[in-house]
Amino acid sequence: MTAGTPRSVGIGVIGYDGVARAHLQAILRLATVFWPPPVRPVLAALAGRSADRVQEAAQRYGAPAAYTDWRRLIEDRRVELLINCGPNDLHADPCIAAAARGLHMLCEKPLARSSAEAAKMRDAAVRAGTVHMTGYNYRFVPAVLLARGMIAEGKLGQIRHFRARYCDDSMIDPDVPYTWRHSRAQAGSGVIGDLAAHAIDLARFLVGEITAVSAAARIFVDRRPRPQGGDGTVDVEDAIEAVVEFAGGAVGTLEASSMCPGRKNFLTFEVNGTLGTVIFNLERLNELEVCLQGNAVGGFQTVLVTERHHPYGGRWWPPGHLLGWEQPFVHQLHRMLTAVAGQGRAGPEGATFEDGYQCAVVCDLLDRAAGEGRRIAAAGVAPSRASGE
Ligand SMILES: NC(=O)c1ccc[n+]([C@@H]2O[C@H](COP(=O)([O-])OP(=O)(O)OC[C@H]3O[C@@H](n4cnc5c(N)ncnc54)[C@H](O)[C@@H]3O)[C@@H](O)[C@H]2O)c1
Repeated sequence: MTAGTPRSVGIGVIGYDGVARAHLQAILRLATVFWPPPVRPVLAALAGRSADRVQEAAQRYGAPAAYTDWRRLIEDRRVELLINCGPNDLHADPCIAAAARGLHMLCEKPLARSSAEAAKMRDAAVRAGTVHMTGYNYRFVPAVLLARGMIAEGKLGQIRHFRARYCDDSMIDPDVPYTWRHSRAQAGSGVIGDLAAHAIDLARFLVGEITAVSAAARIFVDRRPRPQGGDGTVDVEDAIEAVVEFAGGAVGTLEASSMCPGRKNFLTFEVNGTLGTVIFNLERLNELEVCLQGNAVGGFQTVLVTERHHPYGGRWWPPGHLLGWEQPFVHQLHRMLTAVAGQGRAGPEGATFEDGYQCAVVCDLLDRAAGEGRRIAAAGVAPSRASGE
């Protein structure tokens, strides 16, 4: 090790397909973007269900250990940080075990299947005193951070509306096989936890706490073929439509559906204040549409958020050289490792387990409001606690 080279932190990852690939890329790429990194991420172990496939993934990504039992990954002395990319029913037990071992944790969203389960994870993390983050990666998109900065500086004035949609067409085909995502026992909810959770987190990140919700939900396809034969019963919603009210007085709407032909990864939000509007669309993630009252040109301007003075500007490439869906995962990991190195905190830019819990509270409210067909105020839900990240 040469003088000034940061110490290494061993990372164990549960999962290697799906979103885990974005985390694995972040581990491998971080030092190419952030040098010197606060600590150097080293892939120490992978866990997955199939022995053959996890071995192959370990070879592919250069992990020295591969396990089919996640407990062995958590016990592996080389692992200091757990990145949990398991299905929603595999978030709580590994994270609580990891906290007991004193590991730092980055757990995918939604933090848990319910706010009660999320509270247990948050409490375990706070007790452990380690760094904890929930994988709300869209917080780390430069255009989202630019919008947040503009709102915080008062450039939009008093915020009156937040409108978000997260739509795709991933379930439109009734022959899409039954998976853990279609089971309330395994996933906790359908598009509420899968898609709307990202929009709820951005609502909290940009505008503040949600205090009341009204909602309607639908299951459009209630049986799907199981890969091993036969049918599975879908008992989680394919779509949710909601009206939300914020502590600061703003009102807005949230929509999430996996039943929208043509929509692929359409996460979009619009924030209207007394002085201006910003619009973001994840499918054009390098851009922010901005309209400010009093601007002599008038109307909306599309800002390409790649200038050196923009968030993470100049970190990757020169201005005008675009970023993709995966790069905010590198920003997220960098924030996490900065906190692990004791050089900063995971929040407020990163979503802590407290943020994951607060988001889960709103997910529960949406589910209840849709089920009971009425407006539900958040009063009486557990108040926000110090996050202790
Ligand atoms: N932040 C994002 O943008 C984003 C995107 C997609 C998914 N997610 C979240 O990530 C999580 C995983 O979603 P996905 O789409 O990657 O799912 P997936 O089904 O594609 O992958 C799940 C992974 O978990 C592993 N796994 C399952 N059971 C296991 C067990 N018992 N032991 C060890 N490993 C096991 C599987 O091998 C697989 O690699 C979910 O919580 C989901 O909500 C987040």
